[in-house]
Amino acid sequence: MNVLGIETSCDETSVAVVKDGRKILSCEVSSSLQIHKLYGGVIPEIASRAQLETISGVAGQALKNAKVRLKDIGLIAVTTEPGLPGSLLVGVAFARAVSLACGIRLINVDHVLSHIYANFLDGAGVKIPFIALVVSGGHTNLYMVKSFADIKALGRSQDDACGEAFDKTAKILGLGYPGGPAIEKASLRGNAKSIKFKCCGTSNPLDFSFSGIKTAVLYYTNKHVSRTTNDPSTWFDFAHHRSLGVNGRRTTNDGIRTTICDIAASFQESVIGALVSKSVLACASHKIKRLVIGGGVACNERLREKFRLECRCRGIDVSFPAKSLCTDNAAMVAGLGYCLYKTGG
Ligand code: KG4
Ligand code: ZN
Repeated sequence: MNVLGIETSCDETSVAVVKDGRKILSCEVSSSLQIHKLYGGVIPEIASRAQLETISGVAGQALKNAKVRLKDIGLIAVTTEPGLPGSLLVGVAFARAVSLACGIRLINVDHVLSHIYANFLDGAGVKIPFIALVVSGGHTNLYMVKSFADIKALGRSQDDACGEAFDKTAKILGLGYPGGPAIEKASLRGNAKSIKFKCCGTSNPLDFSFSGIKTAVLYYTNKHVSRTTNDPSTWFDFAHHRSLGVNGRRTTNDGIRTTICDIAASFQESVIGALVSKSVLACASHKIKRLVIGGGVACNERLREKFRLECRCRGIDVSFPAKSLCTDNAAMVAGLGYCLYKTGG
């Protein structure tokens, strides 16, 4: 069965056609990111207006690329929650309109759970049960998955989501938006052991907390990084620093030589450390040797490397989707929609 997936929970407008919940026939993604970059974060009103303008075209292109017509679609799967209300409304209204006009069944899909399903697309797959970690801009959730109809939450962030912490920390460091890729890039030039940033403890050991470490970065940066200007975007300019021959380094207020890259790398290492240790703990306490990761932060190479390393030592099989399927896309929505439909969801 061909499923039309529709995803508009944040700034992306994505439509995909997926066959039998597995094979991606097409997956179109249009993003208003370039506009949001000017503001340092997603502006919901701009996102939903862009989605309203693009969704018909994106859907048409997805059908064309998949070489199918609406009459070949057996099910429409749409993200209904969680997300920006205006953005979700555009996707849901579009999906309902197509469903009613063409007499195609419609199924609701949870965006966070669809990030887990990304691990089952295009030939990939994991045996159940498994532990799942979703690390995105809005969520940091650990789950026990017995089937896609039987998912139990084990832990979640008590404050900032992991991606949100990357985004806010990048802003503090003047690295721009989105922060995750910028922190990853800066970290490559930094020493992750140079500064001891620590993620806060939580009463449920499988919960997460990232707002404390973000604040620690803020205080550290204010204290140690000399700012010759009030414009954060000029604090970090590789080209400028290279031309000065100081390789992206700044001299601190108190004379100690430190770098934005060191701060980024130390922050990243600590956050990834918390993700790994809690995921491994979830596997150990539930006696499960399979771990599935999803969400935009799972694009991070250091995260993948550290998970692979720690899981190998413990005999845990860890699985990540392709990077293009980690960030928001409609293929994962179509896939999970099919799976739920088949199991009576
Ligand atoms: O899953 P996603 O595309 O959207 C949500 O559902 O939120 O995740 C977006 C988040 C952003 O916070 C972004 O900074 C983060 O994923 N991200 C990364 C990387 N690429 C994207 N975080 C760390 N390292 C990356 N390479
Ligand atoms: Zn997402």
